[in-house]
Parts: sequence; structure tokens; C-alpha cells
Amino acid sequence: MDTKVLKAEPASIKAAAELIRAGEVVGFPTETVYGLGADALNAGAVRKIFEAKGRPGDNPLIVHIADIGAIDRLIEGALPESARRLAQAYWPGPLTMILPKSKLIPKEVSAGLETVGIRMPSHPVARALIAQAGTPIAAPSANLSGRPSPTQASHVFSDMAGRIALILDGGACAVGVESTVLDVLCDPVRILRPGGVTAEMIAQVLGRVTVDESVMRPLGKGEVARSPGMKYKHYAPRGHLTIVRGAGAPEAIARMYDAALGQGETPLILGLDAHIGGYGARAVLALGDGAQEAAARLFSALREADELGATRIFSEAVAQAGVGLAVMNRMGRAAAFDVVEVG
Ligand code: TXA
Ligand code: MG
Repeated sequence: MDTKVLKAEPASIKAAAELIRAGEVVGFPTETVYGLGADALNAGAVRKIFEAKGRPGDNPLIVHIADIGAIDRLIEGALPESARRLAQAYWPGPLTMILPKSKLIPKEVSAGLETVGIRMPSHPVARALIAQAGTPIAAPSANLSGRPSPTQASHVFSDMAGRIALILDGGACAVGVESTVLDVLCDPVRILRPGGVTAEMIAQVLGRVTVDESVMRPLGKGEVARSPGMKYKHYAPRGHLTIVRGAGAPEAIARMYDAALGQGETPLILGLDAHIGGYGARAVLALGDGAQEAAARLFSALREADELGATRIFSEAVAQAGVGLAVMNRMGRAAAFDVVEVG
């Protein structure tokens, strides 16, 4: 299959909407990461997403809607009060809420669960695509299973060329990490995957929120993940990634880099802007000036690390507050939680 990449504009969005209506899969931008979309109510179309990604069938997809009225027929029963308040505050935006699914949602979407994740994205291209398709769009991140999520159309092309017909290019994604996945069926609500709508933002609306304990550690052997996606290896670059945290991190990273170089490795540093100068001539990719910029750049940096042939990667950490929790969750998984604490 020939894969076209078209700048997102009215004509190409219309073509993408027609493909969705015809049961095909398209790559499209959202404010978080690029998605791989298909008609959420068409089981055959949804199966094509799993094929294109090489995704295990037991990992459910998020259903994307463009207006709140679309939710009623997708869920069983009324929208819980907590969900209603969060939708009012943070939709459209990077928040996915887990709700009881209606019979309209094929089992392929929910991977056999009785619940479905629903999100209303804010990206104008995503919203136009959903509206014109006239159907909710099921979409995981548009990477091959296991690869870092794509934050640019070129990332989607590098994973999906030959597998899908069309990618809409809407430029770089502003948030850069995937949406917050929130279980709103328990009290207090529980974050299963941290993202752009932060714990602090949720607490502001509901007063209370918990973060699932699996967010900042690997799953134990035989442990059942509340969010199926959390059990899979994720985001991993080919080189071994170590996170170095603490006040002395830049100095420690420089020493580790030099030692790795001496052992014939191809080392690479992911560093915050404030410390880049101190690394001198060592190979460095900039994560920006803090958590927000690091969120927008992390996945792109992990892909670049592969392109540069890095075999050892040392990354600075960001503070685990706000969107920093999402950054450290993704970085932690990419590093298989190999974290070195220094002074
Ligand atoms: O920002 C995003 O959420 C992007 C864009 C495209 O919207 N999508 C995305 O989808 O990241 P995906 O499939 O890569 O990640 C969805 C995550 C997975 O970890 C999955 O296990 C979890 O959400 N999930 C989906 N439905 C669920 C459910 N019913 N219960 C628990 N977890 C669920
Ligand atoms: Mg994903």
C-alpha cells in the first residue's frame, strides 16, 4: 500500500474522513500525539488498527468524539457526576475517562472489557476529522507497538509506511505525551496513566484524586494491570537508557558518559537546557527548560537516539509534579525503571 502524507487542510481532511467512513485507517494529529484512527463502531475497521500497529488484541483503544452529545450512546447509563464536571473543565483536551461501555462499542475496541475510554481532543484537525467522518473514531497512538509515540507526521510515516493509506500532517504535537487515562468509576477517581491533564488539575475540580501505584514502577510478575497498556514494554529506544536524578546529576552523567565511551559504546545525553553547556563536546539532545518542554520533546528525542545509533543513553530527570509525572512515567518505562539517584 502506498502511504500518502498530506498537509492537513480542508481537502485532505475530507479525504481522510471518507477513508474512515469506508472502513480504512488514517494517521492524524491530536494535541497529545498522532493517532491511528478508524470508525469506532466498525469492528472490521478497528481490527485493521491492531494489524497496522502490531498491537496485542487485549489492549483496548480510546474512542474520540468531537462533541459531548456524542457520548450518550457510547456509554451505559448516565455520565457520572465526577466525569461530567471533569468534561466541563477539561474537554476538549488531553483527558480520557474510563466509563461503562454501551452495546454499540465493538468488543475489538474495548478488548473484551465492559468499559471504554472516551476522549474529546482539542486539536482542530482531529475535531474536524471526527465531525466530518460522522462517527466516533477509535485511535491508539500511531506508532508500531512498543515504539515511542509519534509527535510528528514523519514519525508516523517511519512506522506506518506501507501499512496505511493516508497520514494528515498537522505539524508537531503541542503536549507531546499521551492523554491522562482516568478511572472515574471509583471514588476518589484514579489516574491509570498520567498525562496533560495533571493530578493537580483534577484535584482542583474534584478535590481528590489518586495515582495508581503502578504508574512509577514496573509491574510485578503475574500482576494484573488495571490499564492493560501498562503491562507492555513501551517507548523503549534501542540503546539502554538510564535516568540519573538528583542535584549532582549533570556531573554524574558526564562521568558515566565518558566511561561508556571508553568501553566502546555510543553514548548520548538527554539534558535540560540549563546544563547543556556543562556537557561540552559530548553528544547531547536538549529536553528544554523543564517538564512542559520535556513532555513535548521526549518521544522525539528517543527516536532521534535510535537514528544516532546511541547504545547508552543517560537522561536527566524533571520534577514529578504537574506534567512532570507523565514525563517521568514515560521515561521510567523507556528505561525499564533503571534510575540512579545521586547526591
Ligand atoms: O493521547 C492519547 O490518548 C492518544 C491520542 C491518539 O488520543 N491515544 C493513545 O492511545 O495514547 P493508546 O491506545 O496508545 O493508549 C491507550 C491507553 C492504553 O494504555 C490502554 O490500555 C488504556 O489507555 N485504556 C484504553 N481503554 C481502557 C479501558 N477501558 N480501561 C483501562 N485502560 C484503558
Ligand atoms: Mg500508545
